[in-house]
Amino acid sequence: MTADGFGVLIVDDEPNIRSGLAKGLAREADYVETAGNAQEALDKFRENRFHLVLADVRLPGALDGLQLLDRLITAAPRTKVIVITAHGAVETAVEAMRLGAYDFITKPLDLDLLRMQVRKACDLYRLEVENEQLRDRLANAGEISGIIGNSSAMQDLFGQIRQVAGTDATVLIQGESGSGKELIARALHDLSTRSQGPFVAVNLGALPETLLESELFGHEKGSFSGATRRKPGCFEQARGGTLFLDEVTEMPAKSQVDLLRVLETHRYVRVGGEETIVSNVRLISATNKSVGPLIEEGTFREDLFYRLNVVPLHAPALRERRDDIPLLVEHFLNYFCQRHDRPLKRLTAEAMQALSAARWPGNVRQLRNVIERLIVTVGDSTISRQDLPPELTPHAAVSTASICTLAEVVEKAEKQAIQAALAACDYHREKTAQLLAVSVRTLHYKMSRYGLH
Ligand SMILES: Nc1ncnc2c1ncn2[C@@H]1O[C@H](COP(=O)(O)OP(=O)(O)OP(=O)(O)O)[C@@H](O)[C@H]1O
Ligand SMILES: [Mg+2]
Repeated sequence: MTADGFGVLIVDDEPNIRSGLAKGLAREADYVETAGNAQEALDKFRENRFHLVLADVRLPGALDGLQLLDRLITAAPRTKVIVITAHGAVETAVEAMRLGAYDFITKPLDLDLLRMQVRKACDLYRLEVENEQLRDRLANAGEISGIIGNSSAMQDLFGQIRQVAGTDATVLIQGESGSGKELIARALHDLSTRSQGPFVAVNLGALPETLLESELFGHEKGSFSGATRRKPGCFEQARGGTLFLDEVTEMPAKSQVDLLRVLETHRYVRVGGEETIVSNVRLISATNKSVGPLIEEGTFREDLFYRLNVVPLHAPALRERRDDIPLLVEHFLNYFCQRHDRPLKRLTAEAMQALSAARWPGNVRQLRNVIERLIVTVGDSTISRQDLPPELTPHAAVSTASICTLAEVVEKAEKQAIQAALAACDYHREKTAQLLAVSVRTLHYKMSRYGLH
């Protein structure tokens, strides 16, 4: 169940029945809405969240109650649907149950009975949500704060995490995809004084500018079409806890300004609202991009970067800490054998060597996926080198190990060109910049980036 409570949608073509039921169920639900036909019901369902739908079988228009039921269950399987059938229409009731209805009730309606059905449906819904949350937590157990790593790079990182976890300092985590940035963010939260508060993660790369503002700061009822009621944004949901801004460099320009303002004033306003809300969150953000070039290109604000990067943390790539690979392999073997209910499997020394030597562009996530696949697909109790996906075998590992990313190639070439130009211009910066056809500012930036002085 959402924080907003339990919502009921009543679908019947007779206005009297609609209003009668809406009144009659007011106490059972946190909010009730009505619709006169199936299409209107589907539209309302898309706009708002309803946990229970009460639908007459006979409805005017293209879809009847059973077809509506079918669509609702397909779109949102956990929705409880109670179908209203004519007295004695046993076959229709049976068909409704077969299609996944939670229950049915016959006309003339017995309001007391209906109320009881609604209360039961609400209890069941709540139980299902709780179960799911519990399952999620169990599935993630051992990973929540369980960042695995014995290498010196990871030991350094643990030290830094312990140092900053207890403070409210704003942290920016940089690192390649799959290197554990979100895991680090959760560890920072779990080890902080805010650990009893919520941890809210939002992916800023996934949302267009128009939705992002309302996602972050919430909106008031009626602030735009479709805003049927007030919705709290991430800042509000994370009150007293931690807000994790993932892929922060993907944020559109306008949202960057909005975020910067909150960082400066610690205050924000819901979309369409007037009330100023004091922000009470610890901010952690993450990116897998190198931020310098984005600042230079002008796609990411430098002032925002400094506000976010108060404490920089770096999630090392897996190939920078190969010592950790056997440990991680061991961990994922145990984890997935248990999870998939398989007897414990082992790796041959040769297979382990191959895994340790691979390049792992997808980092720990890739390793995790490879191990899971092996657990599921290899029937034998030992996993040998032949079982590994071909891109991981030593031969492939050697050939891919010599390949650099394009960014690495560009950086190397840039550094060499700048060094040569500096020498050619007697270390005169303006002349060097001219020769390289870049601004002096860009030259300075690149020189400091490549450690050239
Ligand atoms: N050190 C680690 N120990 C155990 N599991 C790890 C470790 N690092 C990463 N993982 C696991 O690898 C997967 C990817 O990690 P995570 O989602 O934190 O990466 P990310 O850096 O946020 O990636 P992306 O940039 O793609 O969002 C997760 O399942 C996570 O639990
Ligand atoms: Mg992530």
